[in-house]
This record gives sequence, structure tokens and C-alpha cells, in this order.
Amino acid sequence: MRRYLVAGNWKLNLGPAAGRELAFGLADRLRGRELRGDVVVCPPFVTLAAVAPAAQGDPVQLGAQNCAAWDKGAYTGEVSAAMLAEAGVRYVIVGHSERRQYFREIDQDFVGKIDQVHAAGLKAIFCYGEVLDERKGGRAEAVVEAQLRGVLPRLEGANAYNLVLAYEPVWAIGTGETATPEIAQHMHAHSRALAGQLLGAETAGALRILYGGSCKPDNARELIGQPDVDGGLIGGASLKAADFLGIIDGAEAACDG
Ligand code: 13P
Repeated sequence: MRRYLVAGNWKLNLGPAAGRELAFGLADRLRGRELRGDVVVCPPFVTLAAVAPAAQGDPVQLGAQNCAAWDKGAYTGEVSAAMLAEAGVRYVIVGHSERRQYFREIDQDFVGKIDQVHAAGLKAIFCYGEVLDERKGGRAEAVVEAQLRGVLPRLEGANAYNLVLAYEPVWAIGTGETATPEIAQHMHAHSRALAGQLLGAETAGALRILYGGSCKPDNARELIGQPDVDGGLIGGASLKAADFLGIIDGAEAACDG
């Protein structure tokens, strides 16, 4: 049985004061609840220290949105996975479509970053997904296949414990347009089959695959209720406590069937 994971990607939002307020609000509301999954918040680097006291794992955990592909050295502006671990981070997002689009990151960057995440003892959330033209052109499955084949076989020590996949169709990110549960399930099953080829069937069976793209309280239960959807990577709706808590409630309801 895979535990669900609901992770909030705050993107370029919430400095230390606002981040602390949101994280403590979430922690207060969730404390003592016996969740059947994991909850992670991923603030900007500068907000990590303010959020860390609220995200020590009961049940909220701390994540980061990026890290360096190197462990140390003359790389101005970079932050290493080991530094993030020291700051209390447990998960690091890698490969987000916004990193691909605006920062021109490619497979080689993702391999370096995920290996660093793993070397630091952290878990990577590796994002991938097709853009609208690729879906309209009937190429969604092939694009996802290329994105997974370009990274997963090159990783040094990936397993179902330290790697999480996040299928994020780019046309659904921040657009209010969500993949239907059928599309999500189809793409997740496709991803899991590919992961089976690339990482082995046992790993693929235990691997958590999140859905991301306009996930909201009113669609979370149905999406996360799909057999191969193991949680959500949440952008806009992770910035308001009530919405994020509503998505966690949806994940819990999905566990009930
Ligand atoms: P939205 O939930 O705002 O569509 O963003 C999804 C996302 O990019 C999470 O990483």
C-alpha cells in the first residue's frame, strides 16, 4: 500500500513572515490527526528557516524547490542538497516545468541534482509532463517516455523510498484546467510501466506518482482516488491554508475509497 503525499510548491511566494504564518496555521490544524499520508511544504530558500519549526514531521515536513547539481565550490547563487538537509529539508523538487522553461534546465541537470539529493539522504520529487501542443499532437505519452528515459536510468541510487515522480501536464499548471481523472490515471499508469522498465518492477510498484496541475479541494478526492495517483503536487492552492487542508481531506477521503 503506497502512502499518499500532498506537497505544496509555494513557488516564488511567501517570505519568512508570511511563510511562518501559513506553516504554523497548517501545523496547528493537522497536529494530532492520524493521517494516512505525508504532507510537505516547499517554501522559497529564504523562508525555509522560518518554516522549519512548524515542519518537523508531525505531520508537516519541509521541502525545497531546487538545489545545486554539485556538492560545493565556486557556483555563485547555488544551494547544495547537503545544506538543505542541515536546514531540516526532507524533499527537493527537481525538473519542474518552470525550471525547464525559464531556466533552460535539461535532463543532465536533473540527473546531477537528483544524485545530489540522494547523496544528502533526501528524497527527490521529479516533475515531468507534456505541453499543450504535444498533447494536441497526440505525443503526450512519447514526451513523458523521453523525459523519464532521459533521467531515471542515469540515476546512481534511486529507489522507491528516495524518489517520487510528479506528472504535471504543463497545460494544467496554473491554468485552472485540470487533467480529467481518466487522463491522469492513463498517464500515471504509463509512467509506472516505464518506471518498471527503467528501475525494475518492484521499485515501480512502490513508487509514489503525484499529479500536479490545478489540483483543488473539489477535485483532489477523485484525482487521488485513481489507482496510480498517489497524491498531489500543489501550486496555487497550497498558498491558502483552507485550500491545502481541503486537498489533504480529499486525499484522506480517497483512502476511504
Ligand atoms: P498549480 O496547482 O498552481 O496549477 O501548480 C501546479 C504546480 O506547478 C505544482 O508544482
